[in-house]
Amino acid sequence: MREDGRGAIQVRKSTRVTRKLGIDYPILQGPFAGVPSHRLAAIVSNKGGLGAIGAHGLEGLAIREAVDQVRSQTNRPFAVNLWVSTSDPGIARIDSEATSSYISALATYYAELGTEPPSSLQFKVQDFGCQFRAAIDARVPVLSFTFGPPPAEMLDECRKFAIPTIGTATTPDEARVLEQAGLDLVIASGTEAGGHRGSFLVPSGDSLIGTFSLLPQVVDAVKIPVIAAGGVADGRGITAAFALGAEAVLIGSAFLACVESGASEAHRSALLSISAQGTGLTSTLTGRMARAVKNRIMSETTATISTPLPYPAQHALIRTVTDPASLQQRADLMPLWAGQSSGLIRSTEAAALMTDLIGNIHAPLSRSST
Ligand SMILES: Cc1cc2nc3c(=O)[nH]c(=O)nc-3n(C[C@H](O)[C@H](O)[C@H](O)COP(=O)(O)O)c2cc1C
Repeated sequence: MREDGRGAIQVRKSTRVTRKLGIDYPILQGPFAGVPSHRLAAIVSNKGGLGAIGAHGLEGLAIREAVDQVRSQTNRPFAVNLWVSTSDPGIARIDSEATSSYISALATYYAELGTEPPSSLQFKVQDFGCQFRAAIDARVPVLSFTFGPPPAEMLDECRKFAIPTIGTATTPDEARVLEQAGLDLVIASGTEAGGHRGSFLVPSGDSLIGTFSLLPQVVDAVKIPVIAAGGVADGRGITAAFALGAEAVLIGSAFLACVESGASEAHRSALLSISAQGTGLTSTLTGRMARAVKNRIMSETTATISTPLPYPAQHALIRTVTDPASLQQRADLMPLWAGQSSGLIRSTEAAALMTDLIGNIHAPLSRSST
């Protein structure tokens, strides 16, 4: 952050984040687990930002393929994101008796979609160790982690291969833990953000801090550079984040709305048409708290499921409805992950969005600076 001599706030293009990551502009694309976003990632990286792929749902071979797909479209750095914690307590005790009542409660949806209820619940807990190994073997340019810091020996390995690491914090305490663990950079993720809350020290419901309050507290709490996430979708958001001490921004929803994002048509049009109050937080879609469009599946499951199954069992349960609903393009029964900034989204092409964001990085903070 600096002033331009006329009192207007300007954002620096080169920061500790851009230098550490080897990128031209302090703009990072948020990773999207479950969305095949290799095209989007390559465009963002080619335009001088940092593209990303969300690899949580992928096994080793698929991670390698996704990395190769990005590499075939760019020679610039990009990030791969992994979830450090891949299941919640109690997952090992889930049996068919426990899940049958949950399946029965979804009967209306199966009938409406013309599908059979599953006879039992099938789910897989991802092996974080194998995913990490695949990412290291692929020599990914940047590794980012959600739901806590990885073990020390993994961070040692990243350092050995000169792979910069990024952690995700939803509170100042989490940022301190990530810094002490040895992460290079930290994302301060405000509650406006689309998708899952990455909380790992206290339950997500107890760490719902908005970006405007969280960011300066994280900046005060750690010495490593801070990246702002949650609610940033245009030049004004970037300028505000830098005014609060950020050295880069990470943008999710605005990139997800682009044609190249890999999101379905129904998801993209929902992002482009919702209002600021159109999203909410729920744990009933996956078992972990996440922000999505308040459509029918979100509202009804939030009202009827008081105790979701542990992650990822709840996710597998809800997918027995949302997978066929997605095939039928039933937006009312699909999980439509989205952040509160969705109402700000204007661009529908990633290169144009990057050009807009870059063009406004240097713009003075004013009402018209979008
Ligand atoms: C569909 C979807 C999937 C996401 N998956 C991940 C993920 O796997 N890992 C992660 O750290 N963040 C994930 N996020 C969060 C975004 O990367 C990003 O932090 C967030 O969207 C930023 O807030 P914004 O939506 O207000 O821009 C996801 C968000 C969405 C919308």
